[in-house]
Amino acid sequence: MSDTPDPTSIDRGRTVHGEAANAGHRVLAPDDAEVEAYLEQALHAPPPQRVETEAPEQPDTVVVLDFGSQFAQLIARRVRELSVYSELLPHDTSMAELERRNVKAVILSGGPSSVYDTDAPRADPALWSGRIPVLGICYGLQLMAHELGGEVMPSQKREYGPATVSLTDADGLFAGIEREQPVWMSHGDSIVRPPTGFRSTAQTDSTPFAGLADPGRNLYGIQFHPEVVHTPIGRDVLRNFVVEIAGIRPTWTAGNLVETTVAEIRERVGNGHVICALSGGVDSAVAATLVHRAIGDQLTCIYVDHGLMRKRESALLRVTFERDLGMRLVMVDARDRFLRRLAGVEDPEEKRRIIGDEFIRVFEEEAAKIGQIDFLTQGTLYPDVIESKTSETKTSQKIKTHHNVGGLPSDLRFQLIEPLRSLFKDEVRRVGAELGLPEAMVLRQPFPGPGLAIRIIGEVTAERLDTLREADWIVIDEIKGAGLYRSLWQSFAILTPVRSVGVMGDGRTYANVVAIRAVTSDDGMTADWARLPYEVLAKISSRIVNEVPGVNRVVYDISSKPPATIEWE
Ligand code: XMP
Repeated sequence: MSDTPDPTSIDRGRTVHGEAANAGHRVLAPDDAEVEAYLEQALHAPPPQRVETEAPEQPDTVVVLDFGSQFAQLIARRVRELSVYSELLPHDTSMAELERRNVKAVILSGGPSSVYDTDAPRADPALWSGRIPVLGICYGLQLMAHELGGEVMPSQKREYGPATVSLTDADGLFAGIEREQPVWMSHGDSIVRPPTGFRSTAQTDSTPFAGLADPGRNLYGIQFHPEVVHTPIGRDVLRNFVVEIAGIRPTWTAGNLVETTVAEIRERVGNGHVICALSGGVDSAVAATLVHRAIGDQLTCIYVDHGLMRKRESALLRVTFERDLGMRLVMVDARDRFLRRLAGVEDPEEKRRIIGDEFIRVFEEEAAKIGQIDFLTQGTLYPDVIESKTSETKTSQKIKTHHNVGGLPSDLRFQLIEPLRSLFKDEVRRVGAELGLPEAMVLRQPFPGPGLAIRIIGEVTAERLDTLREADWIVIDEIKGAGLYRSLWQSFAILTPVRSVGVMGDGRTYANVVAIRAVTSDDGMTADWARLPYEVLAKISSRIVNEVPGVNRVVYDISSKPPATIEWE
């Protein structure tokens, strides 16, 4: 009777990145669908101003050439923190292209290769001409030294982690910085002889060439990593390079990014039609708002209500995006479809696969109804990109297959617009604020794409979803009431498969155990359980047991990540 064959047996094609669709253990969009908090606010907020922008001039740009370091994009972000526009490009980008982009300085990132590897990534030799100031970091420095006739060798002593550097040069990169500095190192090879014309500017116990400079040719290099927090002077070094050496004025802001992005989208889309899967989370909301600002009604947002959302989310979402923000919004009630597919499924990975697959089906069906579609916009962030190895640059290494990108079949008929793909979460929040989105939206806690399904341990049923939704509502309500919402990375309830004995009134109960999870974290990669005040826990517990039918016991999860994860499934 089922019209939906076994999801695992379906070949859904390849993703736009060449991997099997749904190959990841995590589900693609909707990304972070906790919408309730900001929607409440947005109901009363005026729609953001629609600004008509001229095509802006290219800002003075610092390009980071990517030689494969996990930190390459972080370097660009650090430069943006100095109020200077920066973006990441492939290591072999030509000098002509850099000049076309109005690039005023180039940073060569680190990378895992040795300059002696046969396939070691290289740069356009025209970079060494001195026309644009160049700063090499780690591998970037070694490459510069090697290409210009210096000598690089495997170190006697691999340097990895904290080190102390003595700055022997008081000018240029190190102007205004004390001589002895803690820095962070990560390299196997070292420079043993600098190229002609270069002088040493810094040394450590293990290398006399931890820094090199040839100011006459505008070439600089450092062996340590200025982009990581373990190098406290990193910011000063980058500022010296960008502002003092390259002479760039630090005038770039999130507002410029909005202007530039809106103008780019407008130009790229022309008269085309764009769709966006709106989850209500901050990423897709900011992406959709940028696109909407650029092209108005040429954008249609699709919201798939899979029934795994929190209480009241879907209704409020309609009001906000359709009524207040004036977007064209297609809301699809797919709750029954998802429940049917999830019936009897207990395995977490299987749940994710099914939800991802069904999401694509619904999305494709709706997209087909819209007619001609030229572009799909997604709120993909940089951390999603590195985790899925979808970087346009060629050398980034895969860390893990992530949930929000990489899952869309390539036979979809449209091109991707990902206006946030070079940004980090906090930068997206700033862009959201700049767009006039309400604070409660841009500062909201993340919510996983598969929603409450991965917080119900065991089978997902309509009844269990209702139980969890009620408990979850109470958790958020009390956390907000205690003023703790923003200090926590996430706070939520889990419906466990355990039942326990209790006593209510005069009767014995045998009912569900609900767990509470609240964590602090910077990026979701590691997390610590939050030391919530006992009074807040007590209130949550007594309200859940009293107000949620079928629950008689509440426990608090005191595990950190690692070894646990934030979500239970
Ligand atoms: P874990 O459970 O791996 O989660 O510690 C780390 C962060 O990712 C979120 N998460 C997801 N987000 N789709 C998403 O969009 C997913 O399938 C998914 N699984 C986990 C989780 O909420 C936490 O913020």
